[in-house]
Amino acid sequence: MSQSAPRSQDAGVGTVPVELGPRSYDVLIGPGLIGAAGELLHARFGAARCAIVTDRNLETTGHLARLAEALTPGHRLRGAIVLSPGEATKSFGELAGLCQRLLELGVERGDLVIALGGGVIGDLAGFAAAVLRRGVRYVQVPTTLLAQVDSSVGGKTGINTPQGKNLIGAFHQPSLVLADTDALASLPDREMSAGYAEVAKYGLLGDASFFAWLEANAGGVLARDRQALIRAVTRSVEMKAEIVARDETETEERMLLNLGHTFGHALEAWAGFSAKLLHGEAIAIGICLAFRFSEAQRFCPAGTAARVAAHLASVRLPTRISDVPGATGPDAADLIRLMRQDKKVQDGRLTFVLARDIGAAFVSREVNAVDVEGFLAREIARREP
Ligand code: GLY
Repeated sequence: MSQSAPRSQDAGVGTVPVELGPRSYDVLIGPGLIGAAGELLHARFGAARCAIVTDRNLETTGHLARLAEALTPGHRLRGAIVLSPGEATKSFGELAGLCQRLLELGVERGDLVIALGGGVIGDLAGFAAAVLRRGVRYVQVPTTLLAQVDSSVGGKTGINTPQGKNLIGAFHQPSLVLADTDALASLPDREMSAGYAEVAKYGLLGDASFFAWLEANAGGVLARDRQALIRAVTRSVEMKAEIVARDETETEERMLLNLGHTFGHALEAWAGFSAKLLHGEAIAIGICLAFRFSEAQRFCPAGTAARVAAHLASVRLPTRISDVPGATGPDAADLIRLMRQDKKVQDGRLTFVLARDIGAAFVSREVNAVDVEGFLAREIARREP
């Protein structure tokens, strides 16, 4: 995949289109977008009324008040629903409650649901929008780095079940994404690093020069340097938009976006989807495992996995299973069992995203589960850096 120049101006707002025919939409990236939401929505959706879905953290940071104020002049806001933060909110119970509350607010077919928050809120509110009155439009206003570069774009919505993550859901594309980079100023550093794992993922899967740029500029991105941040978010969204436009429902190429996720989701499920291991942290470990396994299978040159792990460790991300806090680690057989719940399993065969090099990922359905189990047993036992 070739690297194109970021479309944003240094301090301005850039637009990345997601080209999906009648379901096409724009991702706006830059500062001040929450405060400008009223005008931006009015320009695109006229007098459509809206309801905000968010979590308590967005009350604390003031982003909810800012968005509500931005929407008030046209009296277009039906109300705001504030949920508990955390992965546990992506459940059947919360989905049912949310749908009922949206109906109680009087949300109609022509209205907009606005998802203000991170990936949990975007996935849950997007799924509620997909099923409410058989489908209403929604706008993503992602306020975490992870949501800005990944979950708010591409239309994957859903909830978790005890069997695994995101196993119930729908493809339902948003009508607009407002990625306000100012919102990241209030993001805790741990979450900023976790989101960075998904930024690095784009370079690792398809753009070696972007990964090299990240190696030189990660400090600026994590320090919220405006120029560096906009460039990192824009390039990530451009890559995602290109892949989603070619394979919206993940029949093949979109699976590349799951680099590190087969291992990562299993680790997250093992950790109980808890704060012990944030999604992006699980993905960081999963990416390292995918590169180490690729090296062990001789797909990828020696030393590649160490370069990847060194970069992720430099931004305070975990790179090994033994980095997950806990008295005892998972068992390799447990992780394989959790991986079998992966949506990419076909005829019982696991699908992995592996790599031939940095920037050269590929999808493999030829991986032998016995090899993976042996590899994981060695990884679980391993403690050195
Ligand atoms: N997060 C991977 C995807 O949207 O396909």
